Order: sequence, then structure tokens, then C-alpha cells
Amino acid sequence: MFKLSRKSFNLALCLAWVCLTIMTGQTTSIEIVGDEVIQVVENGTEEYLVLDCPYELSDQDKTSLVIKWYHTNNPVNVYQWIHGNKPQAIGILEDRLDLEYVAKDEEYHRHRALYVIKPTTELSGEYTCSVSSFEDEKTYIQKLIVYSKPSEVSVWTDKREEDTVTVICKVDGIYPEPELMLHIASDSDNKTILAGAKEVKTWSHGSYMATIELEIDEDDLDGPVEFVCEVAIPDTDLVFPNATKYEPKMKVVESAVMSGVPRTYSTSATILGLAALLLCLL
Ligand SMILES: *[C@@H]1O[C@H](CO)[C@@H](O)[C@H](O)[C@H]1NC(C)=O
Ligand SMILES: *[C@@H]1O[C@H](CO)[C@@H](O)[C@H](O)[C@H]1NC(C)=O
Ligand SMILES: *[C@@H]1O[C@H](CO)[C@@H](O)[C@H](O)[C@H]1NC(C)=O
Repeated sequence: MFKLSRKSFNLALCLAWVCLTIMTGQTTSIEIVGDEVIQVVENGTEEYLVLDCPYELSDQDKTSLVIKWYHTNNPVNVYQWIHGNKPQAIGILEDRLDLEYVAKDEEYHRHRALYVIKPTTELSGEYTCSVSSFEDEKTYIQKLIVYSKPSEVSVWTDKREEDTVTVICKVDGIYPEPELMLHIASDSDNKTILAGAKEVKTWSHGSYMATIELEIDEDDLDGPVEFVCEVAIPDTDLVFPNATKYEPKMKVVESAVMSGVPRTYSTSATILGLAALLLCLL
């Protein structure tokens, strides 16, 4: 016959207690008190920036507080502050932080933030702060974009085929990876976005070079146009444009067909009419 031993009775009691604490919500003792933000700064222009990690703690958490920061996909933390010890910068943040910086002058908050001195492009990425104690653990994400303006945005046209024109746009020395878009300038806000462009991106010496090109049928162009290339940095409002003007070759036959009378005919008709007029006058 099944008999409840003292040991399993204790286990059951323990489980019941765990369930009860979960139901009453007492297990969550650390609370993050800030919204997730994106910081955007230009490479080499800021003396410093602060990535904070705002939280509230319960009294139980204070005996075993550990703050760690992680960078993008690196499983090893780049910063750590074990309460009662000195903070440490690790990996890419080594020698890049002011470790004396005080985020908030309260014992359990002092070294929670990253004070980054002269942020540069390679420090871009997603920073995750982990706040942990024996009781609980919470994380908080902040995105940092340290961008570099392009050294060049050029756009031009190339006549490779009789019936088409190729629009090419090139950007160099930009960070992070940009998005390129070609469109035709217009007076209204509505842009004719030119889809289906071929794109090539390469990465070297810490920045991106990218080109985009599109072949357009001359027949699709309705008179002179201005091709605009917009180089944008994702997750920011930053856009670097440039434009080039293009005049398609004359569409003699087509416009004649559209008006119903071939132009050559109408020209000869005009000459005939003039001749008739002259004859009448004589
Ligand atoms: C960012 O700035 C640093 C220091 O000013 C410089 O060495 C680096 O080349 C810059 N990066 C880019 C992508 O321009
Ligand atoms: C725009 O493109 C033209 C032609 O490629 C180039 O000469 C010019 O320097 C560019 N302007 C900017 C602001 O990049
Ligand atoms: C722009 O496009 C929208 C929707 O396609 C249209 O309602 C609007 O009238 C257009 N504006 C202009 C100035 O052409």
C-alpha cells in the first residue's frame, strides 16, 4: 500500500509553498524601471555617453546583487559589478569606460551604468544589462548606434544599351550597414520608388561600401527626370541623399502615335497648307 513518507510529505509541503509564492507574485523582487531606448551618436563627436540600467530592488536582493552588461551576441559579459567589489570592464569595453562614474549616489545603484568615453563605431550594438540576486534576475536592453557619415554618396547614369539607361548609386565610408533606395524626384511627396535594384555591400576597415544599380526602359520615362539616391541608416532618421538629372532620348515615333497622326505627316500637311495659302494669295 502507498504510504506517504516523512520525506515526500516535506517535498509536497515545499511545492505547495513554491506555488503559493508564485501565485502571490512574491518571486519577482527586482524591477526594471525604464523604457528600452536607442541612442544614436556620431563617431568621434561625443566626449562620453551613459548607458544606464534603472531598477528597484527588494531588501532580499541587496545581500547578493550582481550587475552584468552583455554586448550583442557575445555570451561573455563586457562589464560586471558585484556589489561590495570594484566594477570591471571586460573585452571590447576594456579601457573604454570610466569605472569611477557614479550612476546614482545610493549604495545599491552606484555602478549600475556604463560610462563610455569617446564612443566609436565598433562599440555599436545591443547592450543587455542583467540585474541579479539569489532571489531574482531581470534584464534590460538598450541599443547604441555610433554612426559614421558617408565619405561619398554619388549617383549617376550610364548608357549601356540603346533602349535603356542604368542608374548607379554608390556610398562609401559609412557605418553601420546602410539601406539604399532609388527613386524619381517629384514635386509631390509621393515618390516613385524604383524597385528591383541590384545591391552589393562590402565591409572593410570598419565601414561599409555599397552600390545599387537599376536598368530602366527609356520608354518608361516621361521626359526629363531626376534620379534620387537615398542612403539611410536603419533605426535612425539619418538619410544622406544625392541626385542626378537625366534626359531620355527623344520618343518621336511614340508621341506621334499617341497623338493619332504621325509627326512627319503633320509636318508635310503644314507645308502643304502653307503652299496652298501662298497660291491663294498669288
Ligand atoms: C571612428 O572614429 C575613430 C576615432 O576618431 C576613427 O579611428 C575611425 O576610423 C572612425 N570610424 C569610421 C567608420 O569612420
Ligand atoms: C553627388 O554626386 C555627384 C556625382 O556623382 C558628385 O560629384 C557629388 O560630389 C555628390 N555630392 C555629394 C554631396 O555627395
Ligand atoms: C499621393 O498618394 C496618395 C495615395 O496614393 C494620394 O491620395 C495623394 O493624392 C497623392 N498626393 C499627390 C500630391 O499626388
